[in-house]
Amino acid sequence: MVDNSEIVETLVTRDELRGRITELAAELQAAFPHDRPAVAVSILKGSTLFLADLARAMDAPLEIDFMAISSYAGSQGGSGVVRIVKDLDTDITDRDVLIVEDIVDTGFTLTYLRRTLAERGPRSLRTVTLLDKAARRIVPVPLEHKGFEIPDVFVLGYGMDFQGKYRNVPEVLAVKDVARLANDPLILAGGLFGEAG
Ligand code: IMP
Repeated sequence: MVDNSEIVETLVTRDELRGRITELAAELQAAFPHDRPAVAVSILKGSTLFLADLARAMDAPLEIDFMAISSYAGSQGGSGVVRIVKDLDTDITDRDVLIVEDIVDTGFTLTYLRRTLAERGPRSLRTVTLLDKAARRIVPVPLEHKGFEIPDVFVLGYGMDFQGKYRNVPEVLAVKDVARLANDPLILAGGLFGEAG
C-alpha cells in the first residue's frame, strides 16, 4: 500500500481550521449590519465546506446562494477567461454581499466575480477566502478577509479537489508529488478521511 506521506502533507489541520474560522466569523459579524441579512455567495464547488463551517460560526442574519463559474483553460495556468455556469437566484441590488472563496491563486476568478457582481449594484461587496496563494497573484484584487496565506503549493481537501477527488478530506493537504498523483489520481489511500473530531 502506498505511503500517503510520500505524496501529501498536512498544511492546515482541523484544529487550525476551526480556530481561524471562529475568528473570521467574528470579523465578518463586526463588518456587516445586523438589521438586514447579508448574502453569502459561495463559489462552487470548492468553497462549500468552508461556507458550511463559516456560516454556522456566524451569529448574524445571512442568506446563502451559490454561483458556479468555469475557466476555459483550467485553474492551473489558466487563460484568465472565466464564465458563469450557474448564476445566483438572488437579486443582490442594494444588498450586502460576501463572496466566499476557497482559494485565490492568480486572482483571475475573483477579479471576474467582483466585476460581475459589482455591476449588479450591491450595497457593499466583500470577499472572504480561506486560503491566499499570494505569491502566485497575477491580477491584484481586494481581499477583505482571509484565513491563511499559503506558499505556492497545490492543495487539496476541505472542499478543494484534485480532478474532482478528495474534497471531503477534513483538513488542507499540500501535494508534494504532483506528478505521482497525476499519474494515479486515486493513489491516496485510507487514513486521509480520518477519525471525526
Ligand atoms: P485563480 O483564478 O487562479 O485565482 O484560481 C482560483 C480557483 O482555482 C480556486 O477557486 C480553485 O478552484 C482553483 N485552485 C487554485 N489553486 C488550487 C489548489 O492548489 N488546489 C485546488 N484548487 C485550486
